Amino acid sequence: MSNFDIELVSVSKSYASVAAVKDINLEIPKGEFVSILGPSGCGKTTTLNMIAGFSAPSAGDIRIRGKSQIRVPPERRNIGLVFQNYALFPHMTVAENVGFGLRMKRLPREEIERSVRAALRSVHLEGFEGRYPKELSGGQQQRVALARAIAPRPSVLLLDEPLSNLDLKLREAMRIELKEIQEQLGMTFVYVTHDQEEAMAMSDRIVVMWQGEIAQQGEPSAIYRDPSSRFVADFIGRSNILPVAATVQTSNFLELAIDGGPVLRRSGPGPRAAPIRYCSVRPESIVLIDPSVPHPEEVNRLQAIVLRVVNLGGNVELLVDLDGGLCLSVLVRSSRSTMLPAVGDEVALGIDPEDVHVLSD
Ligand SMILES: Nc1ncnc2c1ncn2[C@@H]1O[C@H](COP(=O)(O)OP(=O)(O)OP(=O)(O)O)[C@@H](O)[C@H]1O
Ligand SMILES: [Mg+2]
Repeated sequence: MSNFDIELVSVSKSYASVAAVKDINLEIPKGEFVSILGPSGCGKTTTLNMIAGFSAPSAGDIRIRGKSQIRVPPERRNIGLVFQNYALFPHMTVAENVGFGLRMKRLPREEIERSVRAALRSVHLEGFEGRYPKELSGGQQQRVALARAIAPRPSVLLLDEPLSNLDLKLREAMRIELKEIQEQLGMTFVYVTHDQEEAMAMSDRIVVMWQGEIAQQGEPSAIYRDPSSRFVADFIGRSNILPVAATVQTSNFLELAIDGGPVLRRSGPGPRAAPIRYCSVRPESIVLIDPSVPHPEEVNRLQAIVLRVVNLGGNVELLVDLDGGLCLSVLVRSSRSTMLPAVGDEVALGIDPEDVHVLSD
């Protein structure tokens, strides 16, 4: 018996001229909330459809609880589905919608009623049994769709951008709710999204896809802290990505000579295998420093000229020019007490060596 609920083994999917998914390997443990995250067209829905059984892989194997599903039709996979457009039956009440899959299975009436009640309780819609979809808000409709998917107690729930039709506030509230529901049910969730904040907020693990391949997978904080490529560094949050011309290992630091720019110190040894071609620094890891106040010796110090000041509400983004023509984005928390620089001002910046990351592609 496998320890994993879902395994994708060297799975590829090609359409006539498009390689939509290229040789991906993925193992999803039971009870995890896993997000498949990536930009439009990277192969997220294609991957989900293969797990659900709506489309067959061109190559490779899909296993559920250790058993190959290649010849198993969708309705036999014990999988629940929630999509972007909730597709509730408009002529059925909430309870009838939620009980639909159970009636198809010809379960006894009392059991259906019990399961419908439990599912509606899970999504906090008790008392809505008799309403019709058009009498519900978008968020409530999406919760009915969720209840309908979990009512037959599938072992796995697949969700494809289920919140993308909701407005921002509701989307943020539903993120928390979805995560709580998943934890309560102990069900494996595979959640497709192109929204990195959404994935960061809910997931035990994130699988970042790009151009049909898995670019990186891991815990959200690990991916954020230590992106493995330029694509991931920029897609998950934002990063300043600087070309590295040469490196020197000293006893405490790896010194990175930025092409056309300064030398940056980075803590610890660099990767052994691949050559270092870029380094990345998050905008929020760069701080404005007051040159008259002493700072630890090892902090990287840079001089720059402010090119642009963009007010983002709680934060201000400064676009600064390093001597030599390199631009950096710097994120500063704004408060009434901070004196923000203006366009044309010269500023001193500090970057902790811990916050400098190296990339090989
Ligand atoms: N039935 C199909 N026939 C031909 N090409 C397809 C088909 N379905 C998907 N593709 C192509 O495969 C690639 C991956 O598509 P997919 O729908 O998996 O992307 P996605 O990551 O879900 O994107 P989005 O975020 O826009 O939903 C795209 O280039 C798409 O055009
Ligand atoms: Mg899609």
